[in-house]
Amino acid sequence: MSSDAVSQGVAVSAPAGGVAPGQGASLDQQVWAAGVGRGPDGALAVTGLDVRDIAREHGTPAYVMDEADFRRRARTYRDAFTAAFAGIGTGVDVYYAGKAFLSVAVARWAHEEGLRVDTATGGELAVALRAGVPGADIGLHGNNKSDAEIERALAAGVGRLILDSLTEVERVADAAARTGTRAPVMVRVTTGVHAGGHEYISTAHEDQKFGLSVVGGQAMEALRGVLARPELELLGIHSHIGSQILDPAGFVEAARTLLRLRADLHAQTGHLVPEVDLGGGYGVAYLPGETSLDPARVAADLAATVGSVCAELGTPVPRISIEPGRAIVAPTAFTLYTVGTVKPVTVDGDDGPFTRTYVSVDGGMSDNLRPALYGAQYTAAIASRVGSAEHVRARVVGKHCESGDIVVHEVLLPADVAPGDLLAVPVTGAYGRSMASNYNHVPRPPVLAVRDGSVRVLVRRETEDDLLALDQG
Ligand code: LLP
Repeated sequence: MSSDAVSQGVAVSAPAGGVAPGQGASLDQQVWAAGVGRGPDGALAVTGLDVRDIAREHGTPAYVMDEADFRRRARTYRDAFTAAFAGIGTGVDVYYAGKAFLSVAVARWAHEEGLRVDTATGGELAVALRAGVPGADIGLHGNNKSDAEIERALAAGVGRLILDSLTEVERVADAAARTGTRAPVMVRVTTGVHAGGHEYISTAHEDQKFGLSVVGGQAMEALRGVLARPELELLGIHSHIGSQILDPAGFVEAARTLLRLRADLHAQTGHLVPEVDLGGGYGVAYLPGETSLDPARVAADLAATVGSVCAELGTPVPRISIEPGRAIVAPTAFTLYTVGTVKPVTVDGDDGPFTRTYVSVDGGMSDNLRPALYGAQYTAAIASRVGSAEHVRARVVGKHCESGDIVVHEVLLPADVAPGDLLAVPVTGAYGRSMASNYNHVPRPPVLAVRDGSVRVLVRRETEDDLLALDQG
């Protein structure tokens, strides 16, 4: 893990300066959806709807999403990139990366806001198609697409398949030949830029499974391989350098490498690919005091780089695409839990023994794997009331049979936190429900969208019957 991981919301140890403050009476708006605030008696409300009413009607745990905030963030990315790249005379397609969280409604919202949808599997493709997103506005990724996934994508007329290996060049071309179609493809390359919050979510360094190496020559080999197959239409070059990136420099560096590769391909073959896809990875604040990457700034930096590098190389500016997932959906949702057991534990700290208050909630690593998998940091707030002014050092833990089942590693919570309180953990809209599991046969929580004070169930709560329906006895 990189030493700057703490500032990227991914860290095992406590944030610098001690224990992260919880979210008391005043909320840090970087980590809460725009519609979230405290109501007159101190309970959290989403567009005016009290979380106690949500919990009463829908139970806990639940992911609670602010629809208007999702739509606003989608538009912000679209508008920021469109404006910046208009300045250098080209257009941008923004693909919402469905792996962060995808449901039929969310795919529709993204599309209604002028985004396309990026999918990584046949399953995600099925959701986007069910939402009525036209095939032409869908991209399909994957380092190991099955023949069935490739054929389904071709049958749906997807706008792009992103090729991830030399074998896939042939497999997609063969599938196109079999089905009598011409496949629009991009080649995913690794630029050698290492960025992101954790090794597992960095994707463009060399020693990992994604993409084809520019330095090693496989990227050029794949591009030439695509041009050699008439069943393939080469749309462009793609790179995704990692996730939860808070410094625009990595994106800029990767863009340079892609544009040079594009110019080299042009020089070698006379073919100038029309598009360059810069991937996703735009980082967000997880803790109070952190700052999300500013889309206007990164768009401006990238447009300036693309403009100047193309001028240097003497090539026309390509059409650009990007694939943000987390930056659009993560801050739009919080997880609403009910507090159960509250247990003081004496801990030997560096400065002597102290009491850590273990606050158990009715979910855990099955609804948010990120702390256990990446050491990701979150904050928390009592949601059903403000709580006492005096605070305790708390750790929010789940109900699973594992001591690593931690939701919030360390946070200051009101000292009177008690069983029955509602607790909200913000910034769980991305990679929460999408990576949820049924560990310990815990049914997965629902995803509830709030709009203008009313709730709509986007994904219903799983039941024990759902789980037992798979069990063939
Ligand atoms: N495009 C491609 C090709 C990707 O692989 C990804 C994410 C994205 C776009 C969207 O990245 P975003 O904008 O959401 O950062 N489970 C991890 C994140 C894995 C990201 C995988 N690829 C986490 O919870 O942090």
